[in-house]
Amino acid sequence: MSKLEGKVAVISGAARGQGRAHAVAMAREGATVVAFDICEPLKTPLHPGATIEQLDETVELVRKEGQECLSAKVDARDLTELEALAKRVMSTYGRIDILVINHGIWTIGESTWALDEASWQESIDVNLTGAWKVAKAFVPRIIDGQQGGSVILTASVNGLKAQPCAPAYTATKHGVIGLMKTLAWELGEHSIRVNAICPGAIATDMTQKGGTVEKSLEYTPRFFSTDRSLLPAGWVPPETVAKTAVFLASDDSEHITGVALPVDAGWTNY
Ligand SMILES: NC(=O)c1ccc[n+]([C@@H]2O[C@H](COP(=O)([O-])OP(=O)(O)OC[C@H]3O[C@@H](n4cnc5c(N)ncnc54)[C@H](O)[C@@H]3O)[C@@H](O)[C@H]2O)c1
Repeated sequence: MSKLEGKVAVISGAARGQGRAHAVAMAREGATVVAFDICEPLKTPLHPGATIEQLDETVELVRKEGQECLSAKVDARDLTELEALAKRVMSTYGRIDILVINHGIWTIGESTWALDEASWQESIDVNLTGAWKVAKAFVPRIIDGQQGGSVILTASVNGLKAQPCAPAYTATKHGVIGLMKTLAWELGEHSIRVNAICPGAIATDMTQKGGTVEKSLEYTPRFFSTDRSLLPAGWVPPETVAKTAVFLASDDSEHITGVALPVDAGWTNY
């Protein structure tokens, strides 16, 4: 039997990158997928926004795995839209077992004090408040199902270690780990496990398009580094992270909760 047979997985930021990889990998293991994304550019990051066409492509890829996929253009900052989607998922599939809070943006500035206010605020709103709102809308549905479940939050290695020139990103990703730990406490009695993935250098549009990496190297050549990996890894494909997401979603990790797990080729150990 596949690892996620009969489960329904809701994934934020699923139009491309890691969210898409999680959707496809979970479908391959038998899960029905609900993929949502803002599908619009955000105001402050250098990297480009996702598109509705990219979200449609995620749907196609999930269907190629033989699974159903419900998709929606929803902004993680909009609680009303999130609650409407949660209602739609319940009326369509009747259950939610897995929640992957994966959406995010990466903003930078020359220093913490040079970062503009809009970048700070948008990062807090999307990465941290947005993560809380997604949890607020969907977690009660997992509890109501009384079947247990798995919540996975995508933090970052910057949830564990600072990145100079990315103060808002670092602060929000540390915050995401705090949110994960609180949820893990609260949801344990419902047999719902809550963990965070802390990806290292992943080859997605966030890092490969728009020049955030290049600008970071310009701002802080001493500190911004992708060459601290202990393994000879470099930029890894999002499918590498998806294997960990499937592990955390499945019974293979049945005794694991409250953990912030780096998928970083040892970067945080440097
Ligand atoms: N790429 C990396 O090296 C790396 C490293 C560590 C952590 N992360 C984190 O991994 C997660 C996935 O990023 P990725 O690498 O796949 O990049 P990505 O930019 O390809 O994907 C992020 C997705 O989130 C969506 N999104 C952004 N704001 C949203 C909102 N308000 N509502 C709904 N969707 C929204 C985007 O449209 C996009 O599709 C993010 O949380 C990111 O911070 C990435």
